[in-house]
Amino acid sequence: MNVIEVKDLRKEFTSYSSRSGLKGAFRDLFTRNYKILRAVDDISLQVKQGEMVGYIGENGAGKSTTIKMLTGILTPTSGEVMVNGMNPHKEREKFVQTIGVVFGQRSQLWWDIAVQESFRLLKKVYKVSDEDYDTHMKEVIETLEIGPLLDKPVRKLSLGQRMRCELAAALIHNPPLLFLDEPTIGLDVLVKMKIRGFLKEINRKYKTTILLTTHDLADIEALCERVVLLDEGSIIYDGRLDELQKNWVEGKQVHFEFQHAVEKSQLEEVSTHFDVKWRCGERENQWIAMIDGDDDAISKLMSQVMLHHSISDVKINRVSTEEIIRNIYEEGINHG
Ligand SMILES: Nc1ncnc2c1ncn2[C@@H]1O[C@H](COP(=O)(O)OP(=O)(O)OP(=O)(O)O)[C@@H](O)[C@H]1O
Ligand SMILES: [Mg+2]
Repeated sequence: MNVIEVKDLRKEFTSYSSRSGLKGAFRDLFTRNYKILRAVDDISLQVKQGEMVGYIGENGAGKSTTIKMLTGILTPTSGEVMVNGMNPHKEREKFVQTIGVVFGQRSQLWWDIAVQESFRLLKKVYKVSDEDYDTHMKEVIETLEIGPLLDKPVRKLSLGQRMRCELAAALIHNPPLLFLDEPTIGLDVLVKMKIRGFLKEINRKYKTTILLTTHDLADIEALCERVVLLDEGSIIYDGRLDELQKNWVEGKQVHFEFQHAVEKSQLEEVSTHFDVKWRCGERENQWIAMIDGDDDAISKLMSQVMLHHSISDVKINRVSTEEIIRNIYEEGINHG
């Protein structure tokens, strides 16, 4: 059964621009210039129960807008949305009982009251019985290690502490579907790992379906077998993460640091016999060779380059997911 069923979903925002000056303002009274921005551009998507899907894309790609439509916060411009068998906008009250949402950028807890008071209010909102609350939340509180924070007001918590409480709050009614929009933003590595472990655990135990957006691809690698890649409102990839890694670049990267400035054309000249792409590194005089080939090809390329240019450092790396995604954004999905 599909937990999320989306067909040709679109969201357009209309923005009005003001003309300058008094005359402009006067003209604005009668006709206004407006622009239409298509934040989500006819996407179709299905998610099955128990899947953990990474929803990724650059800033402004339309991820949050999609999640807002899936959770009933925004009305779509056109298209169909079914989540947990319901239309999120039409069956609002029943619908919210079946989902959990965390927006990393925003809090759903009350700022001035103690965390446990917020929890208690949410428990009422979601009509959770004392019994269910006690058994389920005891475990959540333990796993996320938020016991000592419960009597503190939210405003006194650190970001990582608050985030763990937000996650717990989203789970009070043990929803079968969880939307997480950047739940690990700004968190340190230890807290991130704790949250990842926790999400894995609830997915295993309750078959909770999770749609996750994050800019930390390590989160995705740790949790999601499937990724959906969004670019300017359109889905450009939907499939297994390991397929993406395999199909995009099967190969390695060699980081060269040269003792002097080198042009890309010079490097291409000495590497014409190799299946290699050169990219400018982050440091001065650093160039990265992305090479498709075995270890033998790599060592031949290295000796060829070093024969013509003196280097100060060289390193061989596996191509990271981060790198793959960046390449896709730079060059398009069909390249490579
Ligand atoms: N309420 C709104 N009114 C007008 N434009 C909006 C509104 N919300 C979002 N947008 C625009 O829609 C586009 C998509 O925004 P969205 O927040 O969905 O991106 P995102 O993928 O979540 O990005 P990020 O990684 O930065 O969170 C952006 O160009 C944004 O400026
Ligand atoms: Mg966003």
